[in-house]
Amino acid sequence: MYDAGKIVLGLAVFVGVSAFPIWYNIAAGKGAYAVQLEPPPNGTKQCVAETANGYMRAEHMHILDEWRNMVVRDGKRPKVTVDGVHYDYSLSKTCMNCHSNKEKFCDSCHTPAGVAPACWDCHVAPEDK
Ligand code: HEC
Ligand code: HEC
Ligand code: HEC
Repeated sequence: MYDAGKIVLGLAVFVGVSAFPIWYNIAAGKGAYAVQLEPPPNGTKQCVAETANGYMRAEHMHILDEWRNMVVRDGKRPKVTVDGVHYDYSLSKTCMNCHSNKEKFCDSCHTPAGVAPACWDCHVAPEDK
């Protein structure tokens, strides 16, 4: 008989180990996925969440998801405070206010990582304005 538990565990370990070089390189900004990140032009030093230990790298898509759900699904318009300034929960007005060069910032990670979020079909990136 098969031991389903061991097979599942084995698969989980295999997948984790196979994916390790990918997520390690992205998280550490090294190797094949090394990127030059454009600092925000407005001189701000803080993001909407912690950037240490790759937190923002790993979580930004979940933060955006949460913001969108709050605005689109719950009809709420909360604000996030960064360095004493209040910003709307907004992709174009907030993220892109600080990260105004989508190509040099967002795409410098997404392109080598093979990610192309469809957000820009509807949302306006700064250079399109
Ligand atoms: C008030 C300005 C500001 C806003 C608003 C802002 N950021 Fe940031 N963001 C920064 C700064 C400053 C950094 C740190 C850059 C660094 O460490 O070189 C940063 C870092 C990041 C990083 C991590 C880069 C890395 O090297 O790990 C990601 C990803 C990111 N921001 C995405 C977003 C997204 C998505 C939003 C909107 C949900 C957003 N930011 C909103 C200023 C901002
Ligand atoms: C430090 C690298 C880095 C930066 C900078 C960065 N991203 Fe990402 N982003 C990633 C990676 C890697 C993924 C894919 C993660 C995954 O698939 O689990 C991703 C995924 C996403 C996703 C989800 C994509 C999907 O199809 O579900 C969104 C949305 C997103 N990023 C938005 C942004 C925006 C907006 C910016 C610029 C303000 C940005 N990211 C900047 C690394 C980055
Ligand atoms: C089919 C069109 C479409 C696509 C694709 C799309 N959105 Fe939206 N999004 C909208 C509309 C419409 C709203 C509502 C705008 C409002 O009420 O301010 C919205 C609202 C939002 C909001 C809150 C309000 C704001 O100003 O940003 C966030 C955050 C958001 N979307 C993130 C995303 C992200 C991240 C992606 C890509 C993973 C994405 N959206 C893809 C149409 C789209």
